[in-house]
Amino acid sequence: MIATKESEIIIEVDNLTVSYGPKPALLDISLKVEKGCLAGVIGPNGAGKSTFIKAILGFVVPDIGKVLINGVPADKAKGCVAYVPQRGSVEWDFPITVREVAMMGRYNQIPWYRDPKAEDNRIVDEALKMVRMQDFAHRQIGQLSGGQQQRVFMARALAQGAEILLLDEPFAGVDAATERAILDVLEEARSAGKTLVVVHHDLATAGEYFDKLILIKQRLYACGTPRAVLREDLLSEVYEGKLRVFSDLIRDSSSTEQKGAK
Ligand SMILES: Nc1ncnc2c1ncn2[C@@H]1O[C@H](COP(=O)(O)OP(=O)(O)O)[C@@H](O)[C@H]1O
Ligand SMILES: [Mg+2]
Repeated sequence: MIATKESEIIIEVDNLTVSYGPKPALLDISLKVEKGCLAGVIGPNGAGKSTFIKAILGFVVPDIGKVLINGVPADKAKGCVAYVPQRGSVEWDFPITVREVAMMGRYNQIPWYRDPKAEDNRIVDEALKMVRMQDFAHRQIGQLSGGQQQRVFMARALAQGAEILLLDEPFAGVDAATERAILDVLEEARSAGKTLVVVHHDLATAGEYFDKLILIKQRLYACGTPRAVLREDLLSEVYEGKLRVFSDLIRDSSSTEQKGAK
């Protein structure tokens, strides 16, 4: 992200509280995301990361507070936001090709009474190319590897033409080469002017991948540059007993960062 003095705010979260039962999953979260930002959402299991993404999508109704997309309430701005769900949450047993999955991204634009137009076909081809899956267009989705399926879902989201892309743990369970390929697509989307909010579980790479980090465990613990967020005191509070593993990583990354600094 190129930080300008007056970065345009595309997502604004104000005093957001969301509950499924008596205990809130998210409590009083306020933050802003600038247009063109590649933002990572981090926090332990059950911290409310997926709920946060669903609130930006307008899929969950806040108890208190609001999410604004370009100043419009999230539930009225659905066309601006595309979503790549967590891979485990999708059933792959039905016969559908890669291209058909990507074309699903166009369904909001295509009325039920007509077939896709040349324009829709062009957009879908472009999206498949961007995720490097054009050669697999006619394959059944169920025959692909996890990382390939993830990229097809990214193509579906890209085909929607939304300004904001939300991804829930896109790197979970993929190999290193696929992780790199997915990151390339995220960076390419950012270069094309998209804003991305990505749930990420790996603190070791969080500082390297993202412009901005959002650290959540029910409440917002920090939001800012990776350097400002990946602080040992904050992480030890949020991750509690698991920090021992992470403290080495923090030490590693801060010693790299401080190289050459006086
Ligand atoms: N549909 C649901 N119904 C009831 N509780 C839920 C639902 N979805 C999530 N939760 C609860 O809300 C909390 C936050 O969950 P989630 O947003 O999935 O966290 P994360 O993605 O960080 O693991 C957890 O305690 C979880 O059990
Ligand atoms: Mg989750």
